[in-house]
Amino acid sequence: MNLQPAELQDFLRSRRSIRKFTDAPVADETLREILKTATCAPSAHGMQPWRFVVVDSPSAISALGAALTGQMRADMQAENAPETEISQRVERSLWRLSEAPKIILLCRDAEAQRAQHPAEEQMGIQSVAMAGLQLMLAAHAHGLGTVWICWPLYAGAETRRALKLPASWQPQGMVFLGHPAEEPREKNLKPLDDVIFYIQD
Ligand SMILES: Cc1cc2nc3c(=O)[nH]c(=O)nc-3n(C[C@H](O)[C@H](O)[C@H](O)COP(=O)(O)O)c2cc1C
Repeated sequence: MNLQPAELQDFLRSRRSIRKFTDAPVADETLREILKTATCAPSAHGMQPWRFVVVDSPSAISALGAALTGQMRADMQAENAPETEISQRVERSLWRLSEAPKIILLCRDAEAQRAQHPAEEQMGIQSVAMAGLQLMLAAHAHGLGTVWICWPLYAGAETRRALKLPASWQPQGMVFLGHPAEEPREKNLKPLDDVIFYIQD
């Protein structure tokens, strides 16, 4: 491979979350290439517990939206949030879903795990997250933007039911993917010395 380390470093450092997309479509083959790269991520025991659900039909998107915002509404009501705030959040979430050129739900298949130890479950979740980042970086390599969206984590069962997914598939998050229509603001990174600790003799 002919990649210069500095180039790859710049590439990795330049990925940013994109939340506004143009109307330009994403080719099916491009998405498939990106998903293929995602499946090259490391996974605990090499079990590849990830499942990628491309939510592409208007009726499925609408069912997903209803599931996610139904739970969102219930959670906010339980916290006594004012109705206007709840409605605004629900509306904005449905709007963001409708604007996403591609929606990819990332699930962990619990049946792909070897054991029921909590650490094993966590390793499965970590593996899915790794595939998620790999997906986002592969999209970035195609000049596409992505953002990881956590909402399905709050409505796992509802999401599974809405999309008629197998019972063992546990939604971990979703990625919106499309052609960027925004330049993200400069990122405020923590100083390296606040996050790196050396233990040396
Ligand atoms: C686990 C996880 C959950 C996230 N959930 C959301 C989300 O629900 N909505 C959203 O707009 N961004 C979400 N993000 C994106 C973060 O806000 C974003 O990565 C962070 O602000 C850093 O910006 P950058 O991705 O441009 O470097 C999530 C990111 C991660 C890793």
